[in-house]
Amino acid sequence: MEMKNRASWSGQFAFILAAAASAIGLGNLWRFPYLVAQYGGGVFILIYLLLVVTFGFTLMLTEIAIGRRSQQSQLTAYTQIHRGWGFIGILSTLIPFIIVPYYCVIGGWVLKYAVTYAKMAFTGAPLLGEGAANSAAFFGSFISSSFSPFFYGLVFVIGCAVVIVMGVKNGIEKSNLILMPLLFILALAISIYVVCMPGSSEGLRYYFVPDFGTFKNAAGNFSFAQLAKTILGAMGQMFYSLSLAMGIMITYGSYMKRENNIEASVRRIEIFDTIISIIAGLMIIPVVYAFAVKTGVTPELLAQCGGDNALAAEKAVKSAMNAGPGLMFVTLPRVFASIGAAGAWLGMAFFILVIFAAATSAISLYEACVASVCDVLKINRKAATFFTGVTIAFLSVFSALGYGVWDKITVSSAFKALGFTGGWTDIQLFKLQFLDMFDFMTSSFLMPIVAVLTCIFIGWIVKPKVVIDEVEQNGHKFRAKGFYCFMIRYFAPLLLTAILISEICRNLNIKGWAI
Ligand code: TRP
Repeated sequence: MEMKNRASWSGQFAFILAAAASAIGLGNLWRFPYLVAQYGGGVFILIYLLLVVTFGFTLMLTEIAIGRRSQQSQLTAYTQIHRGWGFIGILSTLIPFIIVPYYCVIGGWVLKYAVTYAKMAFTGAPLLGEGAANSAAFFGSFISSSFSPFFYGLVFVIGCAVVIVMGVKNGIEKSNLILMPLLFILALAISIYVVCMPGSSEGLRYYFVPDFGTFKNAAGNFSFAQLAKTILGAMGQMFYSLSLAMGIMITYGSYMKRENNIEASVRRIEIFDTIISIIAGLMIIPVVYAFAVKTGVTPELLAQCGGDNALAAEKAVKSAMNAGPGLMFVTLPRVFASIGAAGAWLGMAFFILVIFAAATSAISLYEACVASVCDVLKINRKAATFFTGVTIAFLSVFSALGYGVWDKITVSSAFKALGFTGGWTDIQLFKLQFLDMFDFMTSSFLMPIVAVLTCIFIGWIVKPKVVIDEVEQNGHKFRAKGFYCFMIRYFAPLLLTAILISEICRNLNIKGWAI
């Protein structure tokens, strides 16, 4: 994609594929399952789906329409539509700079697993231990080593940089036309295998059946803060997974032809993206559940629960579900190990395909950074790619080492060690591990803020008619017009603001908001 002479997609299908390739990535395969697990299973999925068809639809449609109307990328599109509002573009441009460094670290984890499975497949050596039970130990020792997580992340960054500089991005995208369907089929096959595994039914229930008891606090009362936290988590995932609130869809929309149908394209992109996420969860959650019940109920836990088996199982499941970012990397090896000798080959194939899914997303994120560096510093693409790459590599050190050598260090602890004692050092966000902090900061603060601003901008400053006219170009009917106006003017900005305020109160430890 060249920024200057505005190329355009050959047709609607090409547009949908390109947008889906950016949307489908680690967000679906790695992030969605661990969030579902953490936020209580079915309830999270329900909220997520509701948000995708309401907010997600509204925002993606808005961004694509802004792009196609202004024929600009996000840095200048807002000013072009209405002077003085360019700051939304600048804010959204910052987000990829925070995301890419940790995205590449996770890309590095995938790389490490692909390499390990390849070694196992070709040599037959049981590198992940004698099978299932050791996968947690393997993952733990990998991320806590002092060099390896950084090294693999760096290889991933360099790989993306090479693709950008050599301009072979088109080649990668073409190969994805074959590789993505393969990933889909393999993931589907694995999830069917998992669903048929003995003992998966309880896990399936956890995954699909919403349990509203999740919104209770420790005292057993309904907690608004808990509900708000879950909605915010689901909303952040929606932004992340659909590549929203970063202006990427604006840039994509600017290449879209006038005769293509925006509304129908948005629906299709959402459906693709959501199906992949749900399948990814199916590969992982039932296995986590079954293993937690099988191996998590230790004699100590049982004694703690006064011999109550059901209570102990519930506690074991809860702690297993809370694993966080490592979930996929600990769980899938168990599935592959249970398959036997062919498992190593399957694991290798799977992780290689995931590398491609992650690479297309990482490359377009990286490119977004490069494009803004080019614009701002007025340097050429090669120099900008190098400069951005060095910055990404530097920032990735924090995320790469944050679970291992630096696991005792958080922003909060660093300030405390420097002698700061103010209450602000107790901000929840600063107490997170680095990777979790960068992730939370973008998807739970910056992206919702950009989204609220976009809603106010379109809903109240330039008025929804601008977007509606764009969607109705060439005589296309905008079926959800009334719904769209209501969403962008009232519902989306109000709900988002309420949730954001509640989250900020929780982070600042304001009384009454603690969960
Ligand atoms: N949606 C991508 C994923 O699910 C990640 C992502 C977020 C992204 N914003 C983006 C990718 C912008 C490309 C461009 O993994």
